[in-house]
Amino acid sequence: MKILQGIDLVKVRRMEEMIARSGNKFLQRVFSAAEQDYCGSKRMKFEHYAARFAAKEAVLKALKIRPKQGQRLSGIEVRREATGKPYIALDAESRKRLRLPAKSQVELSVAHEREYAIATVVIVIP
Ligand SMILES: CC(C)(COP(=O)(O)OP(=O)(O)OC[C@H]1O[C@@H](n2cnc3c(N)ncnc32)[C@H](O)[C@@H]1OP(=O)(O)O)[C@@H](O)C(=O)NCCC(=O)NCCS
Repeated sequence: MKILQGIDLVKVRRMEEMIARSGNKFLQRVFSAAEQDYCGSKRMKFEHYAARFAAKEAVLKALKIRPKQGQRLSGIEVRREATGKPYIALDAESRKRLRLPAKSQVELSVAHEREYAIATVVIVIP
């Protein structure tokens, strides 16, 4: 069994600036439609976007993959259980690109407040 861990911290203001600067193109490349719906519905929407961005980067970090400029991240999606607990869902392309074995378990935890969002990811590979 292998256990991998990743963590990422994102400044909410930086996320807001990136979205303002690159607009729709950035949103489509980085966030799924469901993530955009969720974040867009929130009062502090950039906190939620920043948390999701941190989660995606934490997945890459756990897998020791260097984030690339302009990379499509929308296939690494943060979804929510009925309780609100977040989890990572990978589309087929991302699963292949990240070379994640089929039975791997990915655990995500997220927190955010005005200035920063943080995410930790633990991946258990049986
Ligand atoms: C869920 C909870 C941990 C969120 O904590 P918070 O300080 O409000 O907010 P944080 O910034 O730390 O975390 C927010 C993130 O927690 C995550 N979260 C929400 N519900 C969760 C749950 N049941 N389990 C794990 N994580 C959860 C979400 O990812 C959320 O971010 P998102 O909305 O962008 O997806 C907190 O509300 C809680 O403990 N609730 C249960 C107990 C309770 O109701 N206490 C209040 C009365 S004393």
